[in-house]
Amino acid sequence: MSSPDLGTNSLLGAIADVGADPRGGYARHIFNSSERTLREWFVAEAGRLGLDVETDRNSNIWAWWGAPGPDAVVTGSHLDSVPGGGAFDGPLGVAGALAAVEQLQKRGVTPSRPFAVVAFAEEEGSRFGVACLGSRLLSGAIAPERALALTDPDGVSFAEAARGAGFAPERFGRDDEALARIGVFIEMHIEQGRGLIDLGRPVAVGSSILAHGRWRLSFTGMGNHAGTTAIGDRHDPMVAAASAITSARRIAAAGDDVRATIGRLVPTPGGTNVIASAVDAWLDVRAGADAVAKAAVDDIIAAARSAAAGEGCTLDVREESYGGEVFFDPRLADRLAATLSGAPKLATGAGHDAGILAAKVPTAMLYVRNPTGVSHAPGEHAEPADIDEGTAALVTVLTDMLGD
Ligand code: GLV
Ligand code: MN
Ligand code: MN
Ligand code: MN
Repeated sequence: MSSPDLGTNSLLGAIADVGADPRGGYARHIFNSSERTLREWFVAEAGRLGLDVETDRNSNIWAWWGAPGPDAVVTGSHLDSVPGGGAFDGPLGVAGALAAVEQLQKRGVTPSRPFAVVAFAEEEGSRFGVACLGSRLLSGAIAPERALALTDPDGVSFAEAARGAGFAPERFGRDDEALARIGVFIEMHIEQGRGLIDLGRPVAVGSSILAHGRWRLSFTGMGNHAGTTAIGDRHDPMVAAASAITSARRIAAAGDDVRATIGRLVPTPGGTNVIASAVDAWLDVRAGADAVAKAAVDDIIAAARSAAAGEGCTLDVREESYGGEVFFDPRLADRLAATLSGAPKLATGAGHDAGILAAKVPTAMLYVRNPTGVSHAPGEHAEPADIDEGTAALVTVLTDMLGD
């Protein structure tokens, strides 16, 4: 049994009120006031541990223990949340990394190779639509021109928001120098489903991530008066979008473990007594294999096109992001599992910065049990004892890595 608090619980406790949404959960979105408060918190806590903080050109924050350098062991996660997100998705991996450093320092460890804690920017894509923006930009997985042109629901571009937060958007983009320093990336994360509940274990090692992506389905119809327009005269894009939602459910249910979700509808102009002139429906599709995910998306788009045509609307589809199935470095995963005396391996349907970086550097993940099995919602939870187990596992893994 671990000691009562290895530090992660109290670090998370200190930020429990930051960005709390009165509707439940958190609203910690890139460059909003709560996300900036969390950035300041991270810098202060890293400073307390004597780490040297630098913010890279893509607004990711790094805290170096000793001099930055090549072949570094890097651990961390993200501080932003989905709308109404839980307290652990992201901050657990950042707080856990800081606590692990403190534990290592208490043991008198001096890293034998460069070491950093990182907080990646806009992992959830909640404000600008594309997830893992910080790690994608750093690794060249998204062109900076595309990222900077993304807009939030108020029409503010990523470039404008970045400039407003004190960053130089013209410097955003692939950062070979930062990438070359990462020897290995280990991300600890709350488990986002029932995997560890079913296994009856507190901690697992990540094995793979489902193929997944996002598509924006933009339906255009004809705005008009809710009271004076006969039903037969309408071209209502909300009706076409509603049909796309039910088609997505039907097609996913018929597929091979396909998950399809439309969780965000943005009608224009959005009035109760107004037939919308347009609506954007954001589609999220995931599946165990690339071909299965793509086939489901094709089928959903075909159904959406036919619903649009039936309503006299048009449909424009834009792929916002897509990545095939990710397999974390198997040798690294084996090494973690062995170091942790046979921790189980677990696949996930959730995306992570570790999944983006896996294309460039060896990456691994540690999951901490979530007894509710609920995530991206206020019900996400982790017991303090399991958080300690996760922190202890991270300390063990880092001790092993730093010994190289
Ligand atoms: C991010 O957490 C995602 O899986 O969408
Ligand atoms: Mn998430
Ligand atoms: Mn996350
Ligand atoms: Mn994620």
